[in-house]
Amino acid sequence: MIKFDIVTIFPHIFDSYLKESLIARAINKKIIRVNIWNLRDFASDKRGTIDDKPYGGGLGMVMKVEPIYRAVKKIKRTKKSKVILFTPRGKKFNQRVAYNLSKYKQLVFICGRYEGVDERVAKYIATDLISIGDYVLMGGEIASLVVVEAVSRLIPGVLGKRELLKERITYPKRHYIEYPFYTRPAVFEPQKKVRWKVPKVLISGDHKRIKEWRKKHSRIIE
Ligand code: 6GU
Repeated sequence: MIKFDIVTIFPHIFDSYLKESLIARAINKKIIRVNIWNLRDFASDKRGTIDDKPYGGGLGMVMKVEPIYRAVKKIKRTKKSKVILFTPRGKKFNQRVAYNLSKYKQLVFICGRYEGVDERVAKYIATDLISIGDYVLMGGEIASLVVVEAVSRLIPGVLGKRELLKERITYPKRHYIEYPFYTRPAVFEPQKKVRWKVPKVLISGDHKRIKEWRKKHSRIIE
């Protein structure tokens, strides 16, 4: 069982996502667990203040360090848990990072919002800083879901058939291969005189040539 603990000021963003498809099934089967924590519950005042003006001036607000400290202190279970701050300044997420994270028992995710997060969170609380790409989002919530999904599908039992995962991993390096898929009909006619065909080799039944075709059209994901 791998446990994701997500700290956010918008807990409802996660509601529908966690109720659908393979993620919902994995949660029901107790293969993964996802807890959503409202950062405001860890504020020190009744109003639930979690942000403040930046030192040095400037527009916008900065997320405070104390509520995040209190949240992580309560949530973090083992010394070996990862505490990840989602920020566009983080290390770029990729399949390799997903594999590494999938070995942990607990992943605590802190979703940054506003103009930023007090740097002491990055310096003293987070073990890792992750970005999901070179663009700026309004907060770390979607990024944290990207990581939940990429990591979860690597946990045995989350995907329907184990082979589904294994088949497309190339040994010994555990690289993942993605090739194009087709299904029936073999010829689709969206309008008269237009024919969208499936590559002949895939219909040939010749498994050796099919394997070669797939290899040729693969993208290797490290
Ligand atoms: Cl993790 N957060 C935000 N706000 N923007 C991003 C990101 C994260 N990754 C890419 N852009």
